[in-house]
Amino acid sequence: MKKLFLNHKMNLLLKDIEGYVDKIPKDKDLVVFPSNIYIPLFTSENVPVGSQDVSASKRNNMTSEVSATQLKNSGAAYVLVGHSERRAIYQEESSQIRSKLENAVEAGLIPVLCIGEQSVETRYTDLKQQIKEAFGDSLISENIIIAYEPLFAIGSGQALSVEEIDEMIHWIKSYMKEIYHYEPFIIYGGSVNDENIKELSLSIADGFLAGGASLEIEKVKRMIEALK
Ligand code: 13P
Repeated sequence: MKKLFLNHKMNLLLKDIEGYVDKIPKDKDLVVFPSNIYIPLFTSENVPVGSQDVSASKRNNMTSEVSATQLKNSGAAYVLVGHSERRAIYQEESSQIRSKLENAVEAGLIPVLCIGEQSVETRYTDLKQQIKEAFGDSLISENIIIAYEPLFAIGSGQALSVEEIDEMIHWIKSYMKEIYHYEPFIIYGGSVNDENIKELSLSIADGFLAGGASLEIEKVKRMIEALK
């Protein structure tokens, strides 16, 4: 099965999460990114889990931050880094993104680096800049997943077409091969749901990152069925 990553963002209350954990199919290719406070509820039921962010700091005296080591220790295996909502709203900078990647790799987490263009017109310049800023001259690790999420597709109800996903993922893989001699595992995100995922799975994407559609367990089950 192609990977299916579920980003809950800031949604769901404890009462919703308890039912969700009970009903979610257990599959190594299905990874949930809930709010950090719920991570242990997933790990205690052996559901693969990740965090939506990680601290860029190496100092522990940092109020409200959560370190990569703490995430690993609470059972998380993955972490999203540089999601567009963090880049746009919290002005997350390239130096922070790089530190987050380094901290995650050092702690044994698999980072999922989110990249995506603002618009079709700025697509290649935006992506080149984000890749260069995150990795610099050398790749931190080959164990980093790329989540390609064009900003205009997120939450719009309008996913990219299979042809466009293929074109962009092909371009990212070729660019990274040229610069870093390595072709990453790339998942697509942006309005992926239970109605379009079967068609989208015909693309070369190695998996998908769903936001809104990840909140209802019935939709999650339909997405898994479509991918099988
Ligand atoms: P939507 O699936 O709601 O468009 O969200 C995508 C996203 O941001 C996942 O990280």
